[in-house]
Amino acid sequence: MYILGIETSCDETAASVIYADFKAGRIKVLSNVISSQIEIHKKYGGVVPEVAAREHVLNILPVIYESLNRAGINQKKLDAIGVTKGPGLITSLITGVETARTLAYAWNKPIIEINHIEGHIYSNFIDSALIVRFPAVILTVSGGHTALIKMDKNKKIQIIGETRDDAAGEAYDKAAKMLDLGYPGGPIISYQAEKYKERINREKKIKNSLKTDIIRLPRPMINSSGFDFSFSGLKTALLYQLQKDNKWRKKIPEYCYEYQQAIIDILIAKTIKAAQIFRARTVMLSGGVSANKELRLRLAGQVNSKLKMIPLLIPKQEYTTDNAAMIAVAAAYKLHKGKIVSFKHLRVDASLQLK
Ligand code: KG4
Ligand code: ZN
Repeated sequence: MYILGIETSCDETAASVIYADFKAGRIKVLSNVISSQIEIHKKYGGVVPEVAAREHVLNILPVIYESLNRAGINQKKLDAIGVTKGPGLITSLITGVETARTLAYAWNKPIIEINHIEGHIYSNFIDSALIVRFPAVILTVSGGHTALIKMDKNKKIQIIGETRDDAAGEAYDKAAKMLDLGYPGGPIISYQAEKYKERINREKKIKNSLKTDIIRLPRPMINSSGFDFSFSGLKTALLYQLQKDNKWRKKIPEYCYEYQQAIIDILIAKTIKAAQIFRARTVMLSGGVSANKELRLRLAGQVNSKLKMIPLLIPKQEYTTDNAAMIAVAAAYKLHKGKIVSFKHLRVDASLQLK
């Protein structure tokens, strides 16, 4: 089956065409077009909803036609249209949803409504659908969400833990703002942290570090019972340390390193614990923060040493941040189960919950 996926929940206008053959266990991404607005929002230090909405309106049709062109098919071949219904910015979501509705009507295609977070989970099915064993435990970490999710063999999902305040990506973005580093924070903080890591590795080779004023930040809720997260205390701890330290601008790589280590320590501790308690047979990572090199590396190390023989799936870089291939793949699985809606019943839901 051929599926067109459409994603406009935040600041990326994205469309993708995939081909799924469930009998052969094969999913192929034929095109994955993303028009990013990062350069536009950078100067405001974050996503401005009104600006994002205007960009989506301008970009959505060219992006969809480009995705069909790159896939080398026309709309007649499509079996369905999958679209992000929510959660996200209402003014952004509406462009994707209303375009999907209009195209479904004009082309006479069924629609599949996709939860954006569920879409992120399916980014792991793109190349590895056959490897997944259930139950799977998935750590989903993005700018808007941080959750530990359990998926059973019928692909039914259950949230086992989530953030009580900021999302992990949001924690990166807010710290970058405090440190005057720009937007989006994830790639910038991890770049700075990497610089510091290289420096300490070099120093370790020369002599034992004599540094006594090491920056330490807390790891909120790391040992709490349950699987919920909280990152706002970490962010506040960073703010207080910066206020006390008039030389902080000279120590940016070290602050970034410790801040990133704190986030990763918490994410990994909870994921490993959840995988053990729920007897996961696969562990997956997804969402924009899963692009993070240090998180990928350290999680792989911990899964390997603490969860013997359990595979860890991590999406390819191009499927970590927002994209429509993951939406099309999630839609293919739902179409397979007959979960379609007509253009008349498609509804946007900016606060859509996972269920
Ligand atoms: O999934 P996504 O594109 O959008 C949402 O659904 O929110 O995630 C965007 C988030 C941003 O907060 C960004 O700072 C973070 O992902 N991010 C990263 C990295 N690349 C993007 N965080 C840490 N390390 C990265 N390399
Ligand atoms: Zn996302």
